This record gives sequence, structure tokens and C-alpha cells, in this order.
Amino acid sequence: MSMRKRLSGHGRALALSGAGVLVAAGMVAIPVTAAQAATQCGVDYTTNDWAGGFTANVTIRNLGDAVSSWNLGFTFPDSSQRVQQGWSAKWSQTGQNVTATNESYNGSIGSGGSVSIGFNGAWSGSNPKPTSFTLNGVTCNGSTPTTPPTTPPPTTPPTTPPPTTPPGEKVDNPYLNAKGYVNPEWKAKAESVAGGNRVSNNPTAVWVDRIAAINGTPDSSSNGAMGVRAHLDEALKQGAKYIQFVVYNLPGRDCSALASNGELGPNDLPRYKAEYIDPIAAIQGDAKYASLRIINIIEIDSLPNLVTNTSGQPGGTVMCDTVKANGAYVNGVGYALAKLGALGNVYNYIDAAHHGWIGWDSNFGPTADQLKAAAVASGSTVNNVHGFIVNTANYSALREPYIKITDNVNGTTVRQSKWIDWNFYVDELSFAQAFRTKLVSVGFNSNIGMLIDTSRNGWGGTARPTGPGALTSVDTYVNGGRVDRRFHAGNWCNQSGAGLGERPKAAPESGIDAYVWVKPPGESDGSSKEIPNNEGKGFDRMCDPTYTGNARNGNSMSGALPDAPISGAWFSAQFAQLMQNAYPAL
Ligand code: BGC
Repeated sequence: MSMRKRLSGHGRALALSGAGVLVAAGMVAIPVTAAQAATQCGVDYTTNDWAGGFTANVTIRNLGDAVSSWNLGFTFPDSSQRVQQGWSAKWSQTGQNVTATNESYNGSIGSGGSVSIGFNGAWSGSNPKPTSFTLNGVTCNGSTPTTPPTTPPPTTPPTTPPPTTPPGEKVDNPYLNAKGYVNPEWKAKAESVAGGNRVSNNPTAVWVDRIAAINGTPDSSSNGAMGVRAHLDEALKQGAKYIQFVVYNLPGRDCSALASNGELGPNDLPRYKAEYIDPIAAIQGDAKYASLRIINIIEIDSLPNLVTNTSGQPGGTVMCDTVKANGAYVNGVGYALAKLGALGNVYNYIDAAHHGWIGWDSNFGPTADQLKAAAVASGSTVNNVHGFIVNTANYSALREPYIKITDNVNGTTVRQSKWIDWNFYVDELSFAQAFRTKLVSVGFNSNIGMLIDTSRNGWGGTARPTGPGALTSVDTYVNGGRVDRRFHAGNWCNQSGAGLGERPKAAPESGIDAYVWVKPPGESDGSSKEIPNNEGKGFDRMCDPTYTGNARNGNSMSGALPDAPISGAWFSAQFAQLMQNAYPAL
């Protein structure tokens, strides 16, 4: 198995020098007097230092009356000290003076409450801690403390080796050498089906598919009851190193289909920001979770829909036109990237469709450009994008072992076959690697990594071809040899014959950060007939096994399994089939 090419560290100025020695966290506690003034505060300022850099964690304790907004001020004692990248506050520095102003979601601090913020910094001369802080212009406890730090600095350097990555510095591949979080709710569902315990310990993503899912929805008919915080707490309990969330609630969601329409209308961008992204960022930014690598899969299908499913195209819809025209997707994704990407231990991967969607030149470049436009919208930069995911919740085969795109049959290119239909790719691995190169060429960082959702693209079982198809025509060759047994590569709903794909695995191939199970296998893609629900989910005929198709799937049968519940709901018959046809086999 070829190893992933070693890519350089994430492009930021901070670096741990070889000789760097971790200096133990010191703490300056600013004591407070008993008398309550209108504004009274205490600040805990702790740092982890290494040669040239440091991470500062700052807790503001409100010991006075409640405030609804705040700014914290302090002065660096040394002129070399710099704030480089902060989180959970808007940070700025003029000369040696630093100001941190609340974000929209953490402006209120009740009396006795606290807020934790932090930043990564640089220093060259020395790195002493500031000794005085102000909150809303009022000095915390009125003066420079005279009491010594509560924890005296150690006289000898600690024996623990310096971490390979300073806290707050993102690692190149968050999946590498890391244990993944197993969602106990999915695990229980998987184990409710005979034989499910063979795969139930695999990490799957947690879909935050509506506002109520942030805090958990005990009465939900289709999804789990645990909220974001409950999953993070459980991840700590499991001793997991990474946890995966799907951020999936854009205004006018799923604009080209009906099965996963959501709760927000096309003009609900303000609600998306304030009621959805901000609270998620507040939870993920909690210092309690700083040891976890939090991976966010950003908004499945959204940006590719703007490229291929708007006016003038066979799949064009009014909703896709609307969210393209009003900027809801681009600005929503940009906002999510900026907010979540600012957190030191959070990794964003944007959804980039799959080869059977954007593998044609007419879609390939324009989709890369569209992703770039969103990555720099709403104040975001490409640095908030750690990578991309392909094949999310789809069924495209990882590899087609018996077909190469360069093959021909009697001089006719296989690209001319009905199945390939002039696409430039036959499988997800070749597509993901090529698209990665394209994304770097349009301005994404050269160390981005790709993820491939292999939860349901196994295509094993008895129908799997064991060699190339007959050389009678390009169609016999391709249809006889392809492992992807769908009627058409545009089919996406509860596919009959599919199996579990590669188990989650870090750094399996060059340019690929991981094979992941983002769509939790066994959760439906959509109902096979109309089922009333309160989640905004519609009935899409692509989930109806009797449907004979439309322009987007070459007017083919849908290939969907019968008797499916609404998208996201547990579908045991599908899970049993996925295990049956797993490839590699279970
Ligand atoms: C649904 C979500 C669900 C997800 C994972 C999507 O198709 O719309 O509600 O959480 O699949 O199963």
C-alpha cells in the first residue's frame, strides 16, 4: 500500500524549534476584593511556551454585575510579544496593547460567570505574562497584583517531551495516529441488526442537521438524542482523539432535491449564523474540548449544486437559482468556515461532490472556483479549509479495478460508453487525487488533504465482477467489468446492491487524509413514498423504486430500495444489505 506523501505542516508562522523546550504552564491569578463594584473581574492567564511561540488560555471571571458585552485589555511586557491567531473573541494588537472583544455568542457573562478565550502568539526576546487586565475599561481588582502566582514556576524544566504540535496548532492530518469517536447512538442501532457488532465500533460522523440537534432532541423520530456537547463529553470519556461532525443546515438546503430539505428557508441566513453556527462554535471552542481534534464536514452538496443545478442546465431548480442569487450558500459556508476555522483544534473539510457529478471538465474547474469563492466569503480565508471530502453519502466506487479511463475497445474510448458518458474519471480515488491538485491550483493551500466517504461504496457480494467485461463494445466492456452496479452514476438514494466500503482508515493513499464513514451506514437517504414529518424532509422520486428517472440520471430506474423511512432515519433492511455486500468483505 503506498503511503501518503508527507506534506508540510499547516501554513502558519508558528513553529516548534527542534531544541524547543516546553515551559510549564504558569498562572497569574488576579485576586479580587470582597466588595462588589459594578464591574469587577478576575483574569486567569496561563501559557504553554516553546521557543518562539506560545499558546495563551485566558479565563475572564466576572465578579461584578452581569455584562452583555465586554472587552478585555492588557499590555504585553515585552515588545516582541505578538498575538497571531485568537479564538472565542475578536483580537487586536496595537504596539504592546492587546484588546479582545466578545463574539456575538459570548458577550453575556452573568455575575459569577466566566468566559474562556485564547490565542496563539509569538515572542523573540522573552515571554513574560501581562500582570494587569481591564474589563470594559475597568482594571480587574484595581491594580497590579502583589500576591505571587498561585503556582510557582518550576525551577527545573519538566521532563515531559515537548509536544510535536503546539496546542492550538493544527496538525497536517488530524486522522493520523488518532483514535476516532464511536457514536454510541449509531452503535446501538447497528447492533440492533444481526451481525452489526462486526462493524459497530467504527467511527461515524454526527450530523447536526437542524438547530435542535445542537442541544439534542430527545423526541426526535429520525435522529439521535445527544447534542453536540454530549457527543464531545462522550468523546473525552472514550479517550478519542478525533470526532467528526457534519454541519448541514444551510438556508434552502438540498436545493436540487427534496429528500433532505431542511428547516431554514432560502432567506434565513441570519438565523443560520446566529442560531446555528454561532452556538456550534461556542461549544466546540470550549477549552474543555481542546485536546480533541474536532473535524467538521461542511455542507454536503451545497456548492456543487450552484454549479450544476441552476438555470439553463438539465437539473436546474428554482431553489438553486434563489440561493445562488441571494448568496445564502456562499456566505453561509464562508461564515461557517471563518467561525469554526478560528478554533485552534477544529478542522474544516468542505464537501466537493463525487466523480459522477463533477468529473466532466465543464463542472470540474467551475466547482473548484465555486469552492474557492465560498472559502473567501464572509471574512473567511483559504486557511480555514483543511481539506475536502468527496462521495459523502454517495455510492461511487473507490476503485474500478477492471476499467481505466484510458482504455479503448477496438479503438473506441471507454469514455464513450453509456455508463462513463464522457466523464474523465471512473472512480473516486482517481477523482479525489486529481481534484485536490485542481483545488491547489485555484488557490487552496498545498497541504490540503482529501477525505473519501467509503461508508456505502463497497460493491461486494455475488454480483461483483471478477474481471473485465467482454470486448464486444465499449458498453459490454464497461458494464461487464464495473464494480459499481447502479443503473446510473447519478442515482443516489438507498441503492440496491450496495455494500459497506473500506473501513475508516488514516492516510491510505497519497493526498488522502482518510477514508471515513460520514454517512452512518443504515441511515436512510430518503423515504420511498411520502411520509409526513416535522423536519422539512420532502419526498423525492429518486427514492421511489418504481421511478423511471429524469434528465439527471439518464432517465434510468432509481435503483432505490423499497420501504425506506425519511432521510436520516434507521433503515435496518438497508444496513443488512450493506453488511452482506461489504467490500472488503466482513
Ligand atoms: C439527512 C439528515 C441525516 C443524514 C445522516 C441526510 O440525508 O437529511 O437528516 O442526519 O442524512 O443520515
